Formats: sequence, structure tokens, C-alpha cells
Amino acid sequence: MSPSVRRLDPDDIAAMDAVERACFPDDAWTPAMLLAQIGRADGIGLGLVAAETAPGPRRLSGLALGWAAGGVAELLRIAVSPVLRRQGSGRALLGAFLGQALDRGAEEIWLEVRADNTAALGLYRAAGFEDSGRRRRYYSDGVDAVLMTALKERISG
Ligand SMILES: CC(C)(COP(=O)(O)OP(=O)(O)OC[C@H]1O[C@@H](n2cnc3c(N)ncnc32)[C@H](O)[C@@H]1OP(=O)(O)O)[C@@H](O)C(=O)NCCC(=O)NCCS
Repeated sequence: MSPSVRRLDPDDIAAMDAVERACFPDDAWTPAMLLAQIGRADGIGLGLVAAETAPGPRRLSGLALGWAAGGVAELLRIAVSPVLRRQGSGRALLGAFLGQALDRGAEEIWLEVRADNTAALGLYRAAGFEDSGRRRRYYSDGVDAVLMTALKERISG
């Protein structure tokens, strides 16, 4: 069954915080940062969550956050809870994010990823992203950042 992806809302903050802390133990965005992203005064924020279908309190399997403006969009964050990976949530979130970005007029979508992040690189390449640059030793542990771009034609075509 494909994961259910929907636009996030402020009531998702606690569940998003749990996903952030599980996925990015060293640099999780705080609830305040997540709220600021959702409520960006400039209105350019994009945000989606993948909901866990189990009954009970609101729980999320993942999230995707970014922005779109001036014909460009950027994926800032995508994450799926460790125990729920390799079940299609990442692909569903990225596909929905790209759809949102195109709806907002993006002609190209940018992102930046650690060169050693095999899972994310695999996800992005499968979705049509191509390497467009590299920042040597960009991260504090000396790992390069890979810059990637997906053009509208490659996503919608
Ligand atoms: C990257 C991430 C979001 C992928 O989420 P996911 O739900 O596991 O991804 P999916 O199950 O939808 O996988 C989609 C495709 O991505 C690629 N992929 C996912 N995990 C992979 C892995 N561990 N190794 C290689 N390729 C992988 C594959 O192409 C996969 O397709 P396949 O299962 O048919 O082979 C997840 O690993 C994650 O949250 N990582 C930690 C956070 C992170 O690094 N985010 C990116 C930087 S912000």
C-alpha cells in the first residue's frame, strides 16, 4: 500500500519533531524552526508529511520541506523514520514535493546532499536529479556536498 502523503499543518509539529530527532540526531530542526518554515511570511514554503496509517495519536512516517520562488524550488529536508524506511515513503514524499514545486511554477529543483548519503543519492537519482556541482569538504566532518538539479522536463516528462 502506498504511503499517504498530505500537506502539513501546525498540528503536525510534535510528530515532525519526533521524525527530526530520530533522523537527524546531531542537527534536528527544532519545533520553532519547523513552525517558522510552515508559516513563512513570504509564503514560499513547501511542506509535506507522510502519515502513518496506524490508528491512535497522530504519527508521521516522514516529512519533506523546502521552498519555491522565481521559477526555482529547493528541497531543504526529506526524512523517513528509520524503522519505516525502504517502504516507499521517501519516494512518495519526493514525488509529492516535486508536484507541489511544479504547481508553484518551478522550472528546476535544487538540493544539496552529503556525498556519503547513499540512500538519499539513490532516491534523488531515481527521481531524475543529476549532479550539478560539488562543494569540497563542505560538512564539518570533511565530507563533500553534492549539488543536484532536476529540470521540469525530466520530472514531468
Ligand atoms: C533518504 C530517505 C528519505 C529515503 O527514504 P525511504 O522511505 O527509505 O525511501 P524509499 O523506500 O521510498 O526508496 C526509494 C528509492 O530510494 C533509493 N534508496 C532508498 N534507500 C536506499 C538505500 N539505503 N540505499 C540505496 N538506495 C536507497 C532506492 O532507489 C529506492 O528505490 P527501491 O526501494 O525501489 O530500490 C531515508 O533514507 C532517510 O530518511 N534518510 C535519513 C535522512 C536523510 O539523509 N535525508 C536526506 C538529506 S536531508
